[in-house]
Amino acid sequence: YTASIVGCPFSFSCKTPFSAGQRKAGVDKGPIHLVEAGLVDQLTEIGWKVKFDGHHQFEEVSAADDPQIGKLRNPRLVSRVTEAVAKAVGEHVQNGELPVTLGGDHSLAMGTISGTLSKYPDACVIWVDAHADINTPETTDSGNIHGMPVSFLLGLEGTKIPEFSWIKPLLTPDRLVYIGLRDIDDGEKKILKEHNIKAFSMHEVDKYGIGKVVELALDHVNAKRDRPIHLSFDVDAMDPTVAPSTGTPVRGGLTFREGHYICEAVQETGLLVAFDLVEVNPSLADAASVQATVAVGCSLVRAALGETLL
Ligand code: ARG
Ligand code: MN
Ligand code: MN
Ligand code: MN
Repeated sequence: YTASIVGCPFSFSCKTPFSAGQRKAGVDKGPIHLVEAGLVDQLTEIGWKVKFDGHHQFEEVSAADDPQIGKLRNPRLVSRVTEAVAKAVGEHVQNGELPVTLGGDHSLAMGTISGTLSKYPDACVIWVDAHADINTPETTDSGNIHGMPVSFLLGLEGTKIPEFSWIKPLLTPDRLVYIGLRDIDDGEKKILKEHNIKAFSMHEVDKYGIGKVVELALDHVNAKRDRPIHLSFDVDAMDPTVAPSTGTPVRGGLTFREGHYICEAVQETGLLVAFDLVEVNPSLADAASVQATVAVGCSLVRAALGETLL
C-alpha cells in the first residue's frame, strides 16, 4: 500500500454527472468541474492513492419513455442510475476502498447509501443539508426525487413503488442524523417527529456551536464510536455566500469553517466509510461564484479525507 493518512489503503472517486432528481440543468456538470479544479491531485498530495475511473456514463432514458409515476419526475432514469451507483459504491466499499461520490443531485444518495449498507448494514448516516430530503412520493410538492432519497432508504410509507423495489430499506431512524437543516416542508416536519429522527438545525448550530453539535450527533447515531459512518454532504448546507452555485440555496447556512469542521470531526473518528458531495451546479451564478463553490467543494472533500490544518 502506498502512503495513506488514516490507515485506509485507498480512496476511490466516483464521479457521477447526474441531474434527473431535480429540474435545473447543470448540476450534472458539478463532478467535471470538481475534477478539473484538481481534486484528484489534491487528494494524492494528502497521501491517498486515488483510483479515478472517469466520469460515469449512464444509460439515457428519454423523457418520452419516462412519464411521471404519481408525482415522481424522471422515476425510471433516477432509479436506474441510482441502482448503478449503488452497485459501484458497494463494490468499492467491499474492496476496502473509500468511495467519494461527487454529484450530481442528492437523489444519488439512494445509490451511495444503499451501496454502503450492502457491506455495512449497521452503518449510520450523517446527512448535512439545508433540507431533510425525506419527502415521500405522497408528501412531495415538487415531485423532484432529490427531495426524497431518505424516505426510500428508510422504507417509509408510500415508497413501495415497483420501479424502486431494488432499494433495500436497511436504514433505521435511529441511525440517521441531520446537521444544518433550515428549509423543511410541512410533511417532512411530521415525518421527522413521527419517526423521532434527530436533527440539528441551524438553530442548534447557533445555540451549541458546531463542535458540540457534531459531538451530540455522533453520540446519537454512534454512541460507542464503533459504527461505520456514511457522510452525505449537500453543498447547500453551506451558506449561499460561501457556496452560491447550487440549485436550492437557503440563506442562514453553515460558515466555511463549520462545514469543514463537520468533515474533519467525522474523519477524526476513523469510522468514515463513504462520502458524498452533491448539488454543486456550475451553471448557476456568475463565474466567480462558480469558482468559489467548486473550491469549497474540493476543500470539503479534502477535509473529509483527512487534510489537517497543522
Ligand atoms: N423539500 C424540497 C423538495 O422536496 C427541496 C429539496 C431540495 N433537495 C436538495 N437535495 N437540494 O423538493
Ligand atoms: Mn466508479
Ligand atoms: Mn439541500
Ligand atoms: Mn440534499
